[in-house]
Amino acid sequence: MQNLYTELFHKLWDDYVAITPDALKVHNEFSSLSSNPIVNDHIALRTFNDGLINLKHIGKFLAQHGYAEAGEYHFEEKKLYAKHFAHQSDAMAPKVFVSELLLEEFSAELQMFCRGLIAQANWQISQEGLQIPNRHWGKISRNAYERLLEESEYAAWLAAFGLRANHFTVSINHLESLKDIESVNQFVKTAGFKLNTSGSEIKGSQKVGLKQSSTMANSLDWAFEDGNYPIRSCFYEFAERFPMANGELYQGFVAASADKIFESTNVAA
Ligand code: NI
Repeated sequence: MQNLYTELFHKLWDDYVAITPDALKVHNEFSSLSSNPIVNDHIALRTFNDGLINLKHIGKFLAQHGYAEAGEYHFEEKKLYAKHFAHQSDAMAPKVFVSELLLEEFSAELQMFCRGLIAQANWQISQEGLQIPNRHWGKISRNAYERLLEESEYAAWLAAFGLRANHFTVSINHLESLKDIESVNQFVKTAGFKLNTSGSEIKGSQKVGLKQSSTMANSLDWAFEDGNYPIRSCFYEFAERFPMANGELYQGFVAASADKIFESTNVAA
């Protein structure tokens, strides 16, 4: 079944593995265990809360691909607002988690810099329309990246990479041979990959309906205005969902867990 979203996710996946080679390696390890395709639970996009790239506009873009809003989240410490979107007719379609950085809560310097990127995006989108994956602005300098990093790892990542999948997430419930997140984590570590241990290796619990873990983000040479420089790109996530009182699998997200997952792209982590 060829859906509009299928083409979008192929593009997002190709773009994502090009800068996240570990994700492709882990994906291939899972594929070697079973002939069934790996099902994605969700992908995550990051954006700014301003201009033609804000959450509202990304929501409209996703609506054109068959998606509708399905939940909202607040991350006070990281100064983010987020929504998740679910496909309206295909339950197997990955959910899309979109967060936006609340610019007005940051320094005047950060705001001015980011609003400059947004102005470039507004101009480009008014000419060509919103395209994802895409960075609707030019390369930034190493210095600008470092300055952003001091205030917000999220802002620095977004300024460097733009609108693209920050992570893909394997649905453990659809894996044939690995039955729970504990066996997935063991399998991934045995294959030689490092997991994010911020908070703990497993975020969430059966009680809240969702357990998640993730690899640490790949480090790769990224092109800045003033040359290539190694930074953290994207990570691969694993999600196991549990039934609610009504017997159906929980389909939302848990803010406290996502808060720690955001740290998978931290330089120091
Ligand atoms: Ni996620």
